[in-house]
Amino acid sequence: MNQTLTKAHPGGAQAHAVASNQSSDRAPAYVSTKGLQAYYGESYVVQGVGFEMREGEILALLGRNGAGKTSTLRTIARLDAPHLAAGEVWLDGHPLHTMKAHQASRLGVGLVPEDRRIISGLTVQQNLQLAQIAPPRGWTLEQVYELFPRLGERKNQEGTTLSGGEQQMLAIARALSRDVKLLLLDEPYEGLAPVIVREIEKTLERVRDLGMTTVIVEQNAIAALNMADRAVILDMGEVVFDGSAREVLDNAELRHEYLAV
Ligand SMILES: Nc1ncnc2c1ncn2[C@@H]1O[C@H](COP(=O)(O)OP(=O)(O)O)[C@@H](O)[C@H]1O
Ligand SMILES: [Mg+2]
Repeated sequence: MNQTLTKAHPGGAQAHAVASNQSSDRAPAYVSTKGLQAYYGESYVVQGVGFEMREGEILALLGRNGAGKTSTLRTIARLDAPHLAAGEVWLDGHPLHTMKAHQASRLGVGLVPEDRRIISGLTVQQNLQLAQIAPPRGWTLEQVYELFPRLGERKNQEGTTLSGGEQQMLAIARALSRDVKLLLLDEPYEGLAPVIVREIEKTLERVRDLGMTTVIVEQNAIAALNMADRAVILDMGEVVFDGSAREVLDNAELRHEYLAV
């Protein structure tokens, strides 16, 4: 994946074959979460979440504040908290539920957290280079700057001095600097003015067009649904809807009940 802005999945077909030996007769999904149960201490926050994704699909993971969206992303990325007590996460035939966060990251899970985590004291370019230190490498700096020209213009500026929208671009670009197979975006539009949201949307549309399998969590449900193929709605740690993004856009009652939009 070093010459052009395309996704490649070396070994993907082989991994699928391995997975299909272990489970059902149906071809396994590219991403599969099953019965995820996760806790912060005693607090049971992810209560049996499960959904599947095809390669290249964009899934909007929606729900009210506190529904468990961030916790679900963190569980998939195998961060220490919340603690995964039961359930499985498979990515391209790999059992992420048996792994730690750094192993999941090496296999291609790229979480862009809500707070963006730009490292202070480093320039834009240094933030990107830091992400590229550990293999597997994703996009080169040239490729990143091609997709995010604004970052190229600001490459020598300290990352934390960027605007909110530019910091969000940098956070996404940093994830793509690794060989990402599953991009997890936690509220990429949060705190951004509508005109900036539109700019990030355009960037994400380009990422989508490259075929990146993506979960997007957003309070701005309409914006996320416009981008997404599928939608999963969480309520109190459980999946209450799993269907097409179109169905949610067309169903005002459903949106009112679970999304307050
Ligand atoms: N670090 C934490 N420790 C304890 N409880 C938490 C922590 N983070 C979130 N929670 C709780 O877990 C539940 C789900 O939160 P979260 O996944 O952040 O929801 P969402 O992202 O959908 O707003 C909420 O009840 C929240 O209060
Ligand atoms: Mg959240």
